[in-house]
Amino acid sequence: MKKQLILISIFLMCNMLANILVAQKLVVKANEPVAEIQPTMWGLFFEDINFAADGGIYAELVKNRSFEFYKPLMGWEVTPGGNYEGSVLVLNREEMLSSNPRYARVTVVDNDKPVTMKNSGFRGMGVKQGLQYNFSIWARQEAGSSIKLNIELQNSANENIGKAILIPVSDEWTKYEVSFTSSKTDSKASLVLTFEGKGILDVDMISLFPADTWKNRPGGLRADLVQMLYDMKPGFLRFPGGCIVEGHDLSVRYQWKKTVGNVEEREMIVNRWNNEFSHRLTPDYYQTFGLGFYEYFLLSRDLGAEPLPIINCGMACQFNTGELVPMDQLEPYIQDALDLIEFANGSIDTKWGKLRAEMGSPESFNMKFIGVGNEQWGPQYIERYIEFEKAIKAKYPEIIIVSGSGPFPDGEDFEFGMKALKELNAEIIDEHYYRPPQWFFDNATRYDSYDRHGPKIFAGEYAAQSVAIASPNNRNSWLTALSEAAFMTGLERNAEVVHLTSYAPLFAHVEGWQWTPDLIWFDNLRVYGTPNYYVQKLFANHRGSHVVPILLNGQAITGQEGLYATAVIDKSTNEVILKIVNNSESARKTSVQINGMKGILPNAKKIVLKADDLNAENSLDNPGNIYPAESQLKLKGNLVSADLDPMSLTIIVIKHK
Ligand code: AHR
Repeated sequence: MKKQLILISIFLMCNMLANILVAQKLVVKANEPVAEIQPTMWGLFFEDINFAADGGIYAELVKNRSFEFYKPLMGWEVTPGGNYEGSVLVLNREEMLSSNPRYARVTVVDNDKPVTMKNSGFRGMGVKQGLQYNFSIWARQEAGSSIKLNIELQNSANENIGKAILIPVSDEWTKYEVSFTSSKTDSKASLVLTFEGKGILDVDMISLFPADTWKNRPGGLRADLVQMLYDMKPGFLRFPGGCIVEGHDLSVRYQWKKTVGNVEEREMIVNRWNNEFSHRLTPDYYQTFGLGFYEYFLLSRDLGAEPLPIINCGMACQFNTGELVPMDQLEPYIQDALDLIEFANGSIDTKWGKLRAEMGSPESFNMKFIGVGNEQWGPQYIERYIEFEKAIKAKYPEIIIVSGSGPFPDGEDFEFGMKALKELNAEIIDEHYYRPPQWFFDNATRYDSYDRHGPKIFAGEYAAQSVAIASPNNRNSWLTALSEAAFMTGLERNAEVVHLTSYAPLFAHVEGWQWTPDLIWFDNLRVYGTPNYYVQKLFANHRGSHVVPILLNGQAITGQEGLYATAVIDKSTNEVILKIVNNSESARKTSVQINGMKGILPNAKKIVLKADDLNAENSLDNPGNIYPAESQLKLKGNLVSADLDPMSLTIIVIKHK
């Protein structure tokens, strides 16, 4: 018995060695497409978590600009402080304007005793030398008052690096605007307003934006962060989450109607990630909705991505309160979904289509998908989903509905939800998996057995967790990225079933995060892509139009000796594209034979993403530590030899006539 075991071990080792030294032959059947790849295959999941929107992509530099935080002067340093003569009071006009009730009343008693208000933004304000900054304020000067406003940008050493003067003249609420240029670059600047003169000035919506926003839109988005998304060529943009859709309780659920129209009338609410994790409390995290549903649709259009809004289905987060709307009171929630479709697609003669046009887009956003609920589970979800589906399909049969299978990729709740949704002939089901890297390697075959005639799959949230789910110690290491790449070959091989996929969460501010790992990290001036980002980008940039078989010894390549591979053809660019993960510690010699494709050109492109250390990461200071490296490959007829580096992802792009 012992002898037998030794012999088997020797045989296996020889086999392995032979595989390493002798080129392994992979065969691509380029003329046998097995599935069409949806344009939505690789997309984006956006949620305002980790300062993704406020403090992140939404380029507003002033924090708590309208005094609506729980503590109205949070983020502001007022001198002289307290409710002293010559200072700042917070007033509430709820009866007149319930969406933006508070404003600040500044009283200056004497020319010699100016009042100052300083705002240090979201962990400081990132400003750039030579760039224009656009300041705006809503103000009302009490009759008989003569207050002048000095606006000053200060760097972290409290030096003046830009200034302007404003004299509000009207005793009615009026918006005033002025611009100035920063003379220095600083990631921790602040805005200092000095009120001089005498009298009373009411102020609200104090705002500062850089001029270099994405497409130079006033009040727009941070261009460097949007560029990272644009470069991925995403197929869709899912928004606004995530648990943020559900809210801790229903009172703070995401209500899209409160996020459209004039910015100063969008009712701000607490961000549900403000106090979710006791180890990462963020008391100054609120949602201003400056990035609201109109802006999300616009962003989708800019990115060339299908908009995929997710709507609350009458359930609050089941990890928190799990509040439910009684079934007989679900109607307003369903109406919100119907109105949203009208807002996105309706003619400008409809109520909501008209608002879209007034906001700047008479053209429809051509929305095709809607998600009902985020991460809900149990019979309560199914009964609510049925009502949404009925109403949406009755009015908009062309809209594709995305349903959810809950937070976990297996277990009782998952099985229950999947079974129920299949019985209902659900069109697309959203699955989430936040799992260890090994799970991703092991699950490269997850969808091989899914019913080709059942609901399609949206892998809507996934990320390998290096320590534990949502552990603050999780890292965006090369191991996590490599495991996701291996898993993604399984998604791609099963493109017949898997129609949409997205990594989550998307963004994180290095000083303002609650959840890690995340795809893209940034500070107030810089941004970097994690290795996971480059994996996503490489897959999305090489999507192809059809999956074709790639085989090793006649079998799909799903982890044999650490190899995972898929192949696609692109009918519009005349390409055969291979994606190969080598998850072993040894280099691999492979020779790939492309069958069934005539006119193959002799030069191919090879892109390798790798790191010697599985714990390696990128960072703000070393953003290119793990970065795709491009080189040329020569083909001999239909044969290409490719050496696969240890622990690497290799993309090979072969052209044909
Ligand atoms: O991506 C972070 C959170 O993970 C999402 O908000 C939620 O849907 C999931 O639990």
